[in-house]
Amino acid sequence: MLRILVSDKLGQAGLEMLAKAADAEYDMKTGLSKEELVGIMPSYDGLIVRSGTQVDADVLARGTKLKVVGRAGIGVDNIDVAAATKQNIVVMNTPGSNSVATAEQTMALMLAVSRHTVPAHNSLVAGEWNRAQFAGVELNDKVLGIVGFGRIGRLVAERAKAFGMTVLAHDPYVKAEDAAKMGVSLVDLDRVFSQADYLTLHTAVTPETTTMINYPSIKKMKKGVIIINVARGKLIDEAALAEALQEGHVKAAALDVYVSEPPAADNPLIGLPHVLHTPHLGASTVEAQRNVATQIVSQVLDCLRGVETRNAVNKLS
Ligand code: MLT
Repeated sequence: MLRILVSDKLGQAGLEMLAKAADAEYDMKTGLSKEELVGIMPSYDGLIVRSGTQVDADVLARGTKLKVVGRAGIGVDNIDVAAATKQNIVVMNTPGSNSVATAEQTMALMLAVSRHTVPAHNSLVAGEWNRAQFAGVELNDKVLGIVGFGRIGRLVAERAKAFGMTVLAHDPYVKAEDAAKMGVSLVDLDRVFSQADYLTLHTAVTPETTTMINYPSIKKMKKGVIIINVARGKLIDEAALAEALQEGHVKAAALDVYVSEPPAADNPLIGLPHVLHTPHLGASTVEAQRNVATQIVSQVLDCLRGVETRNAVNKLS
């Protein structure tokens, strides 16, 4: 019998698939401390996580039977992929399954920050009627700069074009002609920075992209730029962004992700007037959570059964 541990909240549809698998049994144990997780790892052939569980080298080392770690979602920054590879453990994710949700969250934040939706709501429920204070700006005719033109970046581009935006994108792994087919100009990063009215990030955290939004790069941007981040907090130097917001170089920001999550009490961005915050909700839709859950369960079961390994992010020798 295959034994699978689900250590973060997983969509019901995925749990039902696990319950129906005649050759597998699963335990759902969320909120485990590292010690608790390390203690039970030797019992399991498969581990399914979202972003909450830190699957570090110690946890993997205790997974003496472990063959696969499945990430219900895209980012694998909570998993020590190099350590897993050394132990011959497959790490897989579910690319595409929550892309629409993340693109829609990007548009929602872009619109909300442009139209002061949250402060206007708060003002009204406080008994005020401040129409003049909340005049906004339109997306129409603005330039959107997209950093990272993968699945999510492209879905954002399609939606932004429907809003009348001109879209520029930067992605070293994409061909200019592929972007051109979508009516998007693929340009170098400095051009995205210098021309964007809105800048949105859709790239993974790598040594090259970590804190790519820093004080010098912000200074290359137009005064009054609006920055949206639903990708990963580590792409932004939070102190530099806070400083640029206070100086007015950055007009506003909408942030769904943070360097540490939840954000530290002294996070310099929390409480700034022109920043809209959400708690990493990019993939939090009913549809996306059903998709990631069923996709990862199907992939993990197929991998453990030796049928097929899909969407592995590491290569085993
Ligand atoms: C992802 O990487 O799939 C998203 O950030 C959502 C999540 O962390 O669950």
